[in-house]
Amino acid sequence: MINKERLKKRLLQLGEIGKQTSGGVTRLAFSKEDREGLELISSYMKEAGLEVRQDAAGNLIGRKEGQNPNASVVITGSHSDTVYEGGVYDGALGVIGAIEATQSIAEQGIVTEHPIEVVAYRDEEGVRFSGGFSGAAATVGNFRPEVLNYVDDQGVTVAEALEIEGLDPQRINEAARKEGSAKAHIELHIEQGKVLEGKNCSVGVVTGICCSSRLRVKLVGEAGHAGTTPMDIRHDPLVSAAEIIQVIQKEANSTGTTVGTVGRLKVHPGGANVIPGMVEFSIDLRDLSREIRDEVEKKVLKQAKEICHKNGIEMKIDVWRKNIPKPCSNYVQKVINNSCEKLDIDALSLSSGAGHDSGNFVDFCEQGMGMIFIRSKDGISHNPAEWSSMEDCADGTEVLYHTILDLAVPVQIE
Ligand code: HGY
Ligand code: MN
Ligand code: MN
Repeated sequence: MINKERLKKRLLQLGEIGKQTSGGVTRLAFSKEDREGLELISSYMKEAGLEVRQDAAGNLIGRKEGQNPNASVVITGSHSDTVYEGGVYDGALGVIGAIEATQSIAEQGIVTEHPIEVVAYRDEEGVRFSGGFSGAAATVGNFRPEVLNYVDDQGVTVAEALEIEGLDPQRINEAARKEGSAKAHIELHIEQGKVLEGKNCSVGVVTGICCSSRLRVKLVGEAGHAGTTPMDIRHDPLVSAAEIIQVIQKEANSTGTTVGTVGRLKVHPGGANVIPGMVEFSIDLRDLSREIRDEVEKKVLKQAKEICHKNGIEMKIDVWRKNIPKPCSNYVQKVINNSCEKLDIDALSLSSGAGHDSGNFVDFCEQGMGMIFIRSKDGISHNPAEWSSMEDCADGTEVLYHTILDLAVPVQIE
């Protein structure tokens, strides 16, 4: 049994850090606001009686010892960072819910065979530096060294952001957990879609996480005077970008399952009376099927090349991130479903269009990974209007409580 009032108070308190006038929350990875958020999370972990440490990637970890300290650990948590003007629940619910569930287990005097570790992961969103999943990737030994050189809009690199926190970027791989050291990874998260709401379900059991490609496209044309340059001799990269964006829409729509998004677009030099010389934009393509995602990507890049050739524009593509679909383990899904039955909660199985820290743990944990979703009002997320009811937050956290307990194996005390 969890403490609903404490869950609500902590969640809303964390949501005040990085609050914008729009009502949205901005706690970008490794920012001052992110650190403030982690301080508050650390205080909650201490209140919960957890042993708190920070690893070499900046992840904050709270440990509840098991009867057998050498047994593989049950890991639960989510990310502390947000997107620009994001919501209160994305990431935060998984961190605060994990603290609440683990604290309740401790308060009920329950001892478990396996230790439990609650984690607040860093830089899941990849909004400030465009990579994403830095903390979770480092945890499983998959941190890509080139990510240290990714820069934000102010030219600060990931390496510098780590140094500002007193972390040594060259030692980030020390955050990697040993092979075989984790029994299972379980994350509570908002659905960020409309499926649960559509079926009037408060809780969902995730079957798998889609695969995504995140690309950066740089188009170089020729800057010029907006008034004196005739249309037929222009090489305007923004016009080509507009054509390519239409192609992304067309190709993503053509499969019925793919989603394609251009979320960032920078025009250089950016004067109203200057024909752009350079344009840079992001492409985010996702599908549950890797083959379909790759096929759409291939079609988009082929047509983009043709458009640039036709318009006399130079194109450069960087791949920020490209991953494969992440199945949730049948074992952990079964444990989550059992927890829902115990609580008489009618859960729905569904896939995730959003990426999550858990996606890094598919092959890392002995028993794999699983995710618990709760309903999102109108499916809105990455938006100040993101909202879930406290009843649903409590339902999800109760399910998480029972799932962690089963995974960590309660020990009968004579
Ligand atoms: O981009 C995503 O799917 C997640 O919100 N990081
Ligand atoms: Mn998230
Ligand atoms: Mn998110």
